[in-house]
Amino acid sequence: MEAALFSPITFGKVTLKNRIVMSPMCMYSSETEDGQVAPFHFAHYESRAAGQAGLVMTEATAVLPEGRISPQDLGIWSDDHIDGLQKINEGIHRHGARAGIQLAHAGRKARLEGDIFSASALPFDENMKTPNEMTKEDINRTIHAFAEGARRAKEAHFDIIELHGAHGYLINQFLSPLTNKRKDEYGGNAEARFQFLREVIEAVQETWDGPIFTRISANEYDDNGNTNKDFLHFAKEMKKLGIDLIDCSSGGVIPARPPVFPGYQLKYADEIRNQAGIATGAVGKITSGLQAEEVIQNGRADLIFVARAMLRNPYWAKAAADDLCVEIDAPKQYKRGW
Ligand code: FNR
Repeated sequence: MEAALFSPITFGKVTLKNRIVMSPMCMYSSETEDGQVAPFHFAHYESRAAGQAGLVMTEATAVLPEGRISPQDLGIWSDDHIDGLQKINEGIHRHGARAGIQLAHAGRKARLEGDIFSASALPFDENMKTPNEMTKEDINRTIHAFAEGARRAKEAHFDIIELHGAHGYLINQFLSPLTNKRKDEYGGNAEARFQFLREVIEAVQETWDGPIFTRISANEYDDNGNTNKDFLHFAKEMKKLGIDLIDCSSGGVIPARPPVFPGYQLKYADEIRNQAGIATGAVGKITSGLQAEEVIQNGRADLIFVARAMLRNPYWAKAAADDLCVEIDAPKQYKRGW
């Protein structure tokens, strides 16, 4: 059988051998609490590449120390982080997979000592600190940090960058009317709330010439949050800016619990792909090869991001090929076992 899930796809100068992505997942495993990778990360990421994911996206990696969710997060705020990340990528590339990095800043969702920052001085909930409303200087410093993170990502041999604009982290805090109450040029209507992300994208494009994905939360589960119309506006703006793909997640802006069922976020990838005309990634309880194949064949998304199912089975992509009766390479050392 010809499976669309195992057809290659090209973004700029980067070709993925199939449509399966290891979704970014924080592992909170930096042992030194200075953003450095630990031995755990090498096995963790290389094994998903050996398991035949086309793209292995490393976890949310902080562009500034105050942008970490926890002290154990990975970082890319210093040139000292490049070597460790490059070693992760050697392992990923060994198996013909491409390597992605999710550049992130937690904003008001940082659980750290010291000051934390956001678009507005509103805490996430009563257990979290109240962030400082970012000054223009804070904004410029943070945008510069995303650009520097992108430069280091290139030096560490990443193939793709994903900007973390979802789950209520800093970029999302600027995008959402629930968290952005600013009175300056970064707050107000959808266009103004998009301004921070626009400047991040433009700054990253100065230091990085490869594909860029953006992850968004395409439903905020609140009547006063961004609407479908807002998300389509953001998607069209990102298309104009040359963003290659929008990875469509949801939630995390406020403490609401979305309903979770197989393919629960699929409709956002479908709507944005087919109404804004930009490639999308689908994520959320996609657990089998058959389910993933349906999404690609029906033109509902271009990539399938798999998170928890790939924690359970590093060979998820190989198992999906078996589901679909497609022969794909396994590591040659394992061939007799398959
Ligand atoms: C996540 N998720 C996540 N998302 C993201 O954009 N950046 C991140 O660093 C993390 N970290 C993370 C850690 C862990 C342990 C889990 C389980 C999840 C969300 C993840 O990428 C994915 O969007 C959701 O888990 C839904 O997909 P699945 O798990 O249903 O395939």
